[in-house]
Amino acid sequence: MIAPGETIGILGGGQLGRMMAFAAARLGYRVHIFAPEADSIAAEVCSRFTCADYTDEAALARFAADCAVITYEFENVPVAPLAAVGATPLLPHPRALETAQDRLNEKRFVSELGGRPAPFMAVDGGAANPMGDLARAVAEIGTPGILKTRRDGYDGKGQWRIKSEADLAGLDLPPQALIYEGFVTFFAEFSVILARAADGSVQFWDSAENVHVNGILDTSTVPASAGIAAQVPQARALAQKVAEALDYVGVLTLEFFATEDGPVFNEMAPRVHNSGHWTIEGAITSQFENHIRAVCGLPLGLTTLAVPGARMLNLIGDDAHDWPKILSDPANHLHLYGKAAARPGRKMGHVTRLKLEA
Ligand SMILES: Nc1ncnc2c1ncn2[C@@H]1O[C@H](COP(=O)(O)OP(=O)(O)O)[C@@H](O)[C@H]1O
Ligand SMILES: [Mg+2]
Repeated sequence: MIAPGETIGILGGGQLGRMMAFAAARLGYRVHIFAPEADSIAAEVCSRFTCADYTDEAALARFAADCAVITYEFENVPVAPLAAVGATPLLPHPRALETAQDRLNEKRFVSELGGRPAPFMAVDGGAANPMGDLARAVAEIGTPGILKTRRDGYDGKGQWRIKSEADLAGLDLPPQALIYEGFVTFFAEFSVILARAADGSVQFWDSAENVHVNGILDTSTVPASAGIAAQVPQARALAQKVAEALDYVGVLTLEFFATEDGPVFNEMAPRVHNSGHWTIEGAITSQFENHIRAVCGLPLGLTTLAVPGARMLNLIGDDAHDWPKILSDPANHLHLYGKAAARPGRKMGHVTRLKLEA
């Protein structure tokens, strides 16, 4: 057990790390952020900050020497250099990172556990000839579909929607490994977020109904519609299998499409998730607090709803400028991440609105 007063290391310096740091501080821990960006918004709210590249093994070793446990808020941390942390525990285990960093590995892994992703094929033609593989994948899977980079995609970045074969002609693809997926006809999207403690016990939060706009999460609402609720047990069973197969400790997220034929797995994130931000005010224990509890070997807090329902709305780009208006409604919980520049598509904050009456 890592007792309050000790230092938790967090790899990654964005809003997820910032909200994890708040939760850690409330339990009396110190937080040390490791991130490559000098203007880290997580570093602003923690006691120590190492600004270094994720591949800087000497910096990782010094960071580890200061921490009782290390966790991460960013799933694209390169895995090989993490050996430099030595004997300091790193949770969730880096195998979760390896699995989730690559959309192809992730889909294969989940399929082996009985999950059902969209039909997919690797597009590995390499820089010289990616179109050869792509044409084969499109011929096999059909259109519409989505071509995605296997690694480093987020918020809909690194994706190309292929409506028909005619779209292939105008594509300018990067020299990266890609994956082509059939387009899933879904009536809704939802996520399963669980916390698994060091003793193997698992708790689930209510599944939120997620609406994406332009590939970016817009709103998460609990409770989800009845159509989703009917698919949650099957989705939870898969998520629990994933957690057990990875001997997972911490918060894990799986995203699903709710289809007429049941839940279709979209992707997993080995971390706290944007669709769980409502848990800060809407659940008895937030995803951030339970993640900290899990990696420190503490018992989990209750994940049940604290209110009849909640809706989280992301503030993207210029939306955040509306903060005075948002605060003028006393029922809104406003979260601003302190990011300097409001670029289009950038997550600047979120608002949570609790449903107080059933
Ligand atoms: N195969 C698919 N079929 C239908 N919609 C998809 C598919 N893949 C992605 N999308 C849409 O794009 C969103 C973002 O894609 P996702 O694979 O989750 O990437 P990211 O890592 O950027 O979140 C999804 O939540 C969904 O709305
Ligand atoms: Mg996603």
